[in-house]
Amino acid sequence: MAPRKIIIDTDPGQDDAVAILLALASPELQVLSVTAVAGNVPLARTERNARVAVELSGRPVPVMAGCDRPLRRPLETAEHVHGKTGLDGADLPEPTLPLDPRHAVDFIIDTLHEEPAGTVTLCVLGPLTNVATAFLRAPEVVDRVQEIVLMGGGFFEGGNITPAAEFNIYVDPEAADIVFRCGRPLTIVPLDCTHKALTTRARVERFRAMGTRVGEAVAGWLDFFERFDVQKYGSDGGPLHDPCVIAYLLRPELFGGRLINVEVETTSELTRGMTVADWWRVTKRAPNATFLRDVNAEGYFALLAERIGTL
Ligand code: BDR
Ligand code: CA
Repeated sequence: MAPRKIIIDTDPGQDDAVAILLALASPELQVLSVTAVAGNVPLARTERNARVAVELSGRPVPVMAGCDRPLRRPLETAEHVHGKTGLDGADLPEPTLPLDPRHAVDFIIDTLHEEPAGTVTLCVLGPLTNVATAFLRAPEVVDRVQEIVLMGGGFFEGGNITPAAEFNIYVDPEAADIVFRCGRPLTIVPLDCTHKALTTRARVERFRAMGTRVGEAVAGWLDFFERFDVQKYGSDGGPLHDPCVIAYLLRPELFGGRLINVEVETTSELTRGMTVADWWRVTKRAPNATFLRDVNAEGYFALLAERIGTL
């Protein structure tokens, strides 16, 4: 079967970087590009970090920069989680892979025009600004999207940046709202799922034991990234959020969820960015998303180790 075409839209971030590696290591996927957006750190760092991850994989694909701020709000970043560079934890050289001069939003629009309708999946690992901007600027491309799979939101777990909101949705709730309402197949990987995929010591050491540059870097990133969540939640490791999006494309049977209605709070300051998930189907609002709640964590980390071990 021909590999599935994807665009990875991302704000690396250690977990984003691992997701990029997983995708580039997987023959079932054809990564058309990695498009950077401002999120965990400002755009100048996310595009650089995306190039670091792509270069580390040894399987180059174009990397381009997109929007440097949310649609209608000032950018809020998360250096307190990811460190000053956004990719603290591994000692890697400056990338030599050049930044592709095309703007990420133009690339998303042009690719959706050029590829046959229904053959490109958007994998979104950060705030939804680039994708929403593409949909606003060229509404005719929306119907050409095969599927959108994104990491964002949370319902039973609450939020991680405010009591109500998860970071990616909180940063640009208006963009998330546009994407959630776009009408194309949408799969949401929320905190309810990713908080079950913890980077336990044994799982991190498995990467280090590979004895490769990539395994060493992944272990270093995960060591750095988990310290914040371990302190916060008192858990056995930190949640490895973003690679779940790629793992879902590769092995959907590792995940469990429901097709339900999910909407984004954009007006309240108290609950800004909350994803209101009608898990129990108590309203008549039409289902618009598959909302994942469960993951087979052992299977997920086994898949990561198997694939990243090939790089
Ligand atoms: C999300 O926010 C970022 O910190 C991570 O990269 C992930 O995409 C988790 O809330
Ligand atoms: Ca991210």
